[in-house]
Amino acid sequence: MGNCLIKGMGGRKIKTVERKEKYLPLSTDLLVPGHPLLEEDFYLRVGNRFVLLRKKELPLTRERIDRWKDMGVRAVYIRAQTRDTYLKYLYSRMKEVMGGTTPPEEKAKYLYSLSELVVDKITREFNHEAVDLAQNLARDTVTHLIEQPQLVKSIVKMMSHDFLTYVHSNNVFFLSAGFALSQGLSRPEVEKLALGALFHDLGKERIDPRILQKPGRLDPYEWSEVRKHPLWSRDMLRDLKIASADEIRRMALEHHESYDATGYPRGLDREQIHPYSMLIKICDVFEALCGIRPYREPLTPFKALELMKDVMRKKIDIEMFKAFVNFLGPDYYTKLMKKE
Ligand SMILES: [Fe+2]
Ligand SMILES: [Fe+2]
Repeated sequence: MGNCLIKGMGGRKIKTVERKEKYLPLSTDLLVPGHPLLEEDFYLRVGNRFVLLRKKELPLTRERIDRWKDMGVRAVYIRAQTRDTYLKYLYSRMKEVMGGTTPPEEKAKYLYSLSELVVDKITREFNHEAVDLAQNLARDTVTHLIEQPQLVKSIVKMMSHDFLTYVHSNNVFFLSAGFALSQGLSRPEVEKLALGALFHDLGKERIDPRILQKPGRLDPYEWSEVRKHPLWSRDMLRDLKIASADEIRRMALEHHESYDATGYPRGLDREQIHPYSMLIKICDVFEALCGIRPYREPLTPFKALELMKDVMRKKIDIEMFKAFVNFLGPDYYTKLMKKE
C-alpha cells in the first residue's frame, strides 16, 4: 500500500507505512533433512535484516543443518506467507517430537514455535479456521504440560522477547496455562484460560502500528486509541461459538481492569473482575515489563516482579500475585517477600 494517506479513526489523517515483509523463526533443532514440507527458502536474521541462507532448490541435508549449527545458527527464518506449510510441518512432527526420547529443551522449542505460529495466524486472520487451530493448540499444549510439567519451566526460560503482539500473546499463553496448572486448576478450566490468553490482545490489530511502536510518550488521542483494544478484542470474539465463549470474551475485555477501579475500558472494581481476567492481567503485565518495547529497556524478571509488587499492589490480586511469583521461582519469592 506504500506511503499513502488514509482517513484514520476520529477523522484524523493517518499516514500508513508499508508493512515490512515478515519472517518466522524455525529452530535448527527442529529441522529434518529432506522433509518435503521444508522446501522453502531459508533466511538468516542479521540485526533487523533477513538474508538468504539457502535457496529451496538446495537439498536440506544433515551435513548442511549441522554446519549451520556449528556456525552458531540457532534459528532459520522462512517468509511469513509460507506459514501454512510451516504449520503443517510442525503439526506433522508432534508425535515424534513430543514422544519419549526428545530432550526437554527441544520439546519446549517445538511447542513454542508451534504456538507462535498459531498466534501469528489468529492475529492476522481471525476466522473459524483460526479458532479451530487455537482450540487444538490449547488442548494439545495443556495435555503436554500436564504430562511433562518440567516443560513449563523450559518454555518460560526460553521465551523470546520481541515487541510483536504475537510473541507477547504467545508468552502470555504459556505463562497463563503454566501458572493455572501449577495452581491445580482442572484441564477444561486451563484450556479456557489458555484461549483467553491467546485472544486477549486481538483488538490491537486495529491500533495504528505507529502508535504501538511509538518510542516516546503517547499523546491523549493515541492513548485513547490504545485503551479501546480490550473492547475491540471482545468485539472480534463476538461470533465465537465454542464452549465458554462468554468467559473468554470477558477475559479479553477485562485484562486491563484493576482492583482499585482505575483500569480500562470500564473501571470495574474488585468484585466485578473475573479471576481469570486477573490471572491474565498478572501474566500480561509481567510479560510486557520483561519484553522489549520501543519506549523502554526490558526489565529482568526479578525487577519486573519487584515493580509489580511496589507499584501495582492495589491494582492486582496480591495473593494471586504471590502465587505467581512462587510459580516463576521460589528464589524470587524468598527474595521479594523478604523485602516486605
Ligand atoms: Fe492488552
Ligand atoms: Fe497483552
